[in-house]
Amino acid sequence: ARVAALEAAASATTLDELKAARTTHQGDRSALAQANREIGALPPSAKAAAGKLVGGARGAVAAAYARRQRELEDERDARILAEESLDLTMPSGRPGLGARHPLSLVSERIEDIFIAMGWEIADGPEVESEWLTFDALNLGPDHPARQMQDTFFVAPAESSGLVLRTHTSPVQIRSMLSRTPPIAILCPGKVFRTDDLDATHSPVFHQFEGLVVDRGISMAHLKGSLDAFVQRLFGGHIATRLRPSYFPFTEPSAEIDCQCWVCYGQDISCRVCGGFGWIELGGCGMVNRRVLTAAGIDAEVYTGFAFGLGIERALMLRHNVNDMRDITEGDVRFSRQFGMEI
Ligand code: PHE
Repeated sequence: ARVAALEAAASATTLDELKAARTTHQGDRSALAQANREIGALPPSAKAAAGKLVGGARGAVAAAYARRQRELEDERDARILAEESLDLTMPSGRPGLGARHPLSLVSERIEDIFIAMGWEIADGPEVESEWLTFDALNLGPDHPARQMQDTFFVAPAESSGLVLRTHTSPVQIRSMLSRTPPIAILCPGKVFRTDDLDATHSPVFHQFEGLVVDRGISMAHLKGSLDAFVQRLFGGHIATRLRPSYFPFTEPSAEIDCQCWVCYGQDISCRVCGGFGWIELGGCGMVNRRVLTAAGIDAEVYTGFAFGLGIERALMLRHNVNDMRDITEGDVRFSRQFGMEI
């Protein structure tokens, strides 16, 4: 048994083989373990000699297995070192160039248009107070439109007083609270609603909010600013039109349509407007005097206008993107199609 065990250790060429041999020759059921157990049954006169014999064999076998284990481990380590060695002087492959996301490109383009008109870029948190998101915007706790906002509440829902902002309009309030008129700000940013992701919806999307407050501001200033904006974004002959609508924070309120820049309403197979000629871009209106007052602006002296437009929709229409998920997934091959400019 001793010889067989030693031979098995010597002939094991991998750590796995050695492990198997160890179980056979050193384990509980091996011949040596068996012999060790039988010593107890021998006549007292034979015990000492047998114990010496078996013990010596077991010691020699254990030492042989430990030695072989070290040898095989050293071989394995040497092999791994050789296989994984790197020539640090080899020229490396160039990493693939990334691409800027089209949402960033359009946002910057839009910001530039307003900066050129003398507006400032404003910012606000995405986790926003309920008061700024709703109450200060004349969406009181019982206002029916408050439920329509499909809001993500920050836990615990009833008491944290925080939501993921459902629109960029709370930045209007922040701007009015922190500045004095004349105010002309643009706030681009992420907004959140409890929609499932599909071809036309996403629970996270982007808007930009515009706000102007000064003495004597009227709907004409609103219309003029929107026209100037779409002409710079889509082309010189594009006009906007305002359709009466309702928002709690503006009065009067309107939907903003812009003319189809592809067919101007001339082509019923137009992929952008379907021949309708107009494309809905967002909402706007004169800032409700209750909102001015809530934000500490004297509504007897100042008036203002505000608008909110969705960025994804404009991007999808302008660049023939048919599926919202292309925008949200972040596949660099999608982004690369837009180059560095939009
Ligand atoms: N906050 C509105 C929305 O998200 C858009 C809007 C902004 C309308 C400003 C009027 C004035 O739907």
